[in-house]
Amino acid sequence: MRLRLSAYLICFSALFLTSAAAQDFKKQLIYEIITDRFVDGDTTNDNPSESPGLYDSTHTNWYAYWGGDLAGIQQKISYLKNMGVTAIWISPPVDNINIYAYGSASSPQVGYHGYWARDFMRIEEHFGDNSNSWTAFDNLVSAAHSNGIKVVVDFAANHTNPDNGGEYGSLYNDGTFMAAWNNDPNGYFHHNGNITNYNDRYQLQYYELEDLSDLNQENATIDGYLKSAIAQFVQHHVDAFRLDAVKDVTWGWEYSFANSVFTSGGSFFFGEWDQGNTSDPLYHDSYKFANHSGISLLDFPMNTAIRDVFASNNNFSEIDSTISTEDSNFTWSNDLVTFIDSQDIPRFLTLNSNQNRLNEAEAFLITCRGIPIIYYGDEQYLHNDTSGGGDPYNRPMMSSFSTTTTGYQLITKLSALRQSNNALPYGTSQQRWMNDDVYIFERQFYNNVVLVAINKNDTTSYAISGLYTALPAGTYSDYLSGLLGGVGLTVTTGSGNNNPASALTLAAHSVSVWQLAGGTTAPAVGSIGPTIGQPGVSVTIAGQNFGSSTGTVSINGTKASITSWSSTQVTFTVPNVANGVYQVQLANSSGTKANTIQFTVLTAKLIPVTFTVNNATPTNTGDYIFVTGNTIELGQWGTTFDTAIGPMLDPNYPNWFLNVSLPAGQTVQFKFIDIAANGTVTWENGSNHQYTVPTSGTGNVTVNWQY
Ligand code: NOJ
Ligand code: NOJ
Repeated sequence: MRLRLSAYLICFSALFLTSAAAQDFKKQLIYEIITDRFVDGDTTNDNPSESPGLYDSTHTNWYAYWGGDLAGIQQKISYLKNMGVTAIWISPPVDNINIYAYGSASSPQVGYHGYWARDFMRIEEHFGDNSNSWTAFDNLVSAAHSNGIKVVVDFAANHTNPDNGGEYGSLYNDGTFMAAWNNDPNGYFHHNGNITNYNDRYQLQYYELEDLSDLNQENATIDGYLKSAIAQFVQHHVDAFRLDAVKDVTWGWEYSFANSVFTSGGSFFFGEWDQGNTSDPLYHDSYKFANHSGISLLDFPMNTAIRDVFASNNNFSEIDSTISTEDSNFTWSNDLVTFIDSQDIPRFLTLNSNQNRLNEAEAFLITCRGIPIIYYGDEQYLHNDTSGGGDPYNRPMMSSFSTTTTGYQLITKLSALRQSNNALPYGTSQQRWMNDDVYIFERQFYNNVVLVAINKNDTTSYAISGLYTALPAGTYSDYLSGLLGGVGLTVTTGSGNNNPASALTLAAHSVSVWQLAGGTTAPAVGSIGPTIGQPGVSVTIAGQNFGSSTGTVSINGTKASITSWSSTQVTFTVPNVANGVYQVQLANSSGTKANTIQFTVLTAKLIPVTFTVNNATPTNTGDYIFVTGNTIELGQWGTTFDTAIGPMLDPNYPNWFLNVSLPAGQTVQFKFIDIAANGTVTWENGSNHQYTVPTSGTGNVTVNWQY
């Protein structure tokens, strides 16, 4: 009897741990799947009666459905698990338009990619069944979870479907028609034409992305609809979300969107903020967004650097400087989500057919800071180079499932290292040796060290001397056992973190990995998630050596109530402390303190509110109006680009507006300021404005600039 009870308890806590662990995504290795192009696991849904004629069994029309489905992914769970995949990102599974948008009946262009939603509450019939039920989806999620694989859903909150063909933007709520872009009496959509300037903040958020009917998230019905839709995915046990086109959705609203999920149980979010590199005009906006919203980002600057260096043969300094710039700007750089290939860019092997280079890039990706994504088929060297290999030719049907390719084996080994050595998920990054072709870098989390040496030159070996490492004295064999031509390393005792390595030679196109997973004496914290939330929100801290008996977590001296405690993971509830940015302190049961980690306590659940200030003070080019106020959501009277809220938008200059997520039911004080290009601040006169935020829905407040 007793035995049975504890068995039940173990089952229960395993369930809780699964959902809490979703907030610490750093140990994961994500595999990106375009569901339609992976495996046809159920031929009965290939040409469903609800939307006939959109399927091409010959796989010659690249814009048609090709038969892949959720059941097909489920059939390949062992293949994925044995590769070390711990999370799958699936293309949007929601119901897409039922007729073609472009092309012709014999050559239709359809929503096989999932980005042309018509009903966010239902599952697409080509991926599940003809009644758009959740059965196939739920089956996949449980099969994945029982194999230790998390599920990431791609959620496109920016738009429905094309406004110039097909269903003209039609939106349904679980089968009930709501509106279409060309039949929009309630203002559910924006009607401003296509984005032409991708550096213009107003156009990005309020214009259309390539004719896709742009949703008006400030409309209370759309706000509520999208929040219910994502809540439904959480109820179906999704672990994390990839947010499509976050740069094109209303930024302030997205804070409340993520918060709606954090409020109800938690998840990990990463957004697609498309940009070239750290010199992008909106790069600063990107890290301000990530640091304040709780939404991490796909690491586009690193993607550019990896492709430049490994495919186009640029020097390693490009990767090195990208890491140091991003690490100094992003508060949570280990949460950035890194990738080599995706559904939107030509595959690496199209740019450079050298498979060694792809292997080297993958070894770098999985050991570098950030959470790595492998795009489906890269482990099989899948590519199609038609017309430069971009969309849709970067989305061929998955054609082989060999478990013996070098790529497959490499991913298996390095994924295991992410689990066994905390330097990879939680550690710092340091360059130890570099020339144009060679990059030796070290990851470190207390006594956990991983040192990686890459020589990408195809023919020249390099003799390395003067290399130092935090690895203690000893000899280290190549963790990859020579899979990519790596060698061993001998280290002697030096001082501090700098132990000299004996001279060594890195063969042409080789990767060596040396590592030690050491213990720690004190508890060591490597992760917190979510990174922002109001009192009552559940938060997970991960790391090592927390001890098996329950210790304490405190914020600003106030102890949090602990929901679960293990040696590597603790879940607590944000206590009632004043809103602000804090260093969270964990201590083990004997009172030994860990390192602290940053967390933002919000005032209350977030509600999107649109501020308008009319007839603001005149500005010069490069000056912007911001709003600042008395709570953390309003920047606590901050007056810099990073701390005030904005820049506001001025399509009707000198009137400015901005959507900001504010604490529900609270009365806030605020003012508008002009921040000049050189940082000079001009305050409006008069007393503070005051506004009481609604407790649900969306809000609006309009004032005149006070002269
Ligand atoms: C970006 C996605 O990654 C891309 O594949 C899609 O077509 C657009 N967003 C529109 O949803
Ligand atoms: C946009 C400009 O870039 C900004 O600096 C300026 O304040 C307003 N337009 C008004 O000219």
